[in-house]
Amino acid sequence: MNLLHLDSSILGDHSVSRQISAAAVAALRAESPGLNVVYRDLGATPAPHQSGALLAARGLDPEARTPDQTREVADADAILNEFLAADIVVIGVPMYNFGIPSQLKSWIDHIAVAGKTFRYSEAGVEGLAGDKRVILASSRGGFYGPDSPAAGLQHQESYLRGFFAFIGVQDVEVVSAEGVNISPDQKQASLDAAVAEAGGLGRLLRAA
Ligand SMILES: Cc1cc2nc3c(=O)[nH]c(=O)nc-3n(C[C@H](O)[C@H](O)[C@H](O)COP(=O)(O)O)c2cc1C
Repeated sequence: MNLLHLDSSILGDHSVSRQISAAAVAALRAESPGLNVVYRDLGATPAPHQSGALLAARGLDPEARTPDQTREVADADAILNEFLAADIVVIGVPMYNFGIPSQLKSWIDHIAVAGKTFRYSEAGVEGLAGDKRVILASSRGGFYGPDSPAAGLQHQESYLRGFFAFIGVQDVEVVSAEGVNISPDQKQASLDAAVAEAGGLGRLLRAA
């Protein structure tokens, strides 16, 4: 069983979402000791943006590519292949300006690939990644629950749920720490609750 662990916070050791994603991965490892974990720190090393240069390099015969083009295509392929190989994907994701970090968006731009993770058919769009379990370890400075005044600005979790549904993933769980910038006490309470919840995710794996 393969687990892909991503973090996308730019705050390193001060990150809330990194602590939640780490707790989820630790719980899954404890429950499944043979788990093969691949880690990618998008905050430290962002996925390259899609670009015309990359598309042009893809269009060339491999032998005709320069060494730089060969490396760029291989790096992009590695991102997609890591995702395709994963049974479980754990994503540490802060809210930045009501959405996801651009570092995570550029990763998504490499895995949304027609013919690999979705396809168009006469019946419409068909997701091809339905065999995966996705866990979102999320943190937000404010509150965005359905009854909050800012609910309409919640484009972080809703975007990711929509994206993963598009590529066929039905099994999306979200563990969130909200209101972490409201006060130190609120931050600690939200973090503790989210880490405890993430620590229970391994048991769900056994039940599945
Ligand atoms: C660049 C940036 C943008 C942010 N934008 C928002 C926002 O739109 N709404 C919000 O509630 N919090 C916002 N925050 C606060 C973060 O969501 C919050 O600090 C969260 O814990 C960050 O995750 P991390 O601790 O894993 O880095 C922002 C923080 C940063 C650094």
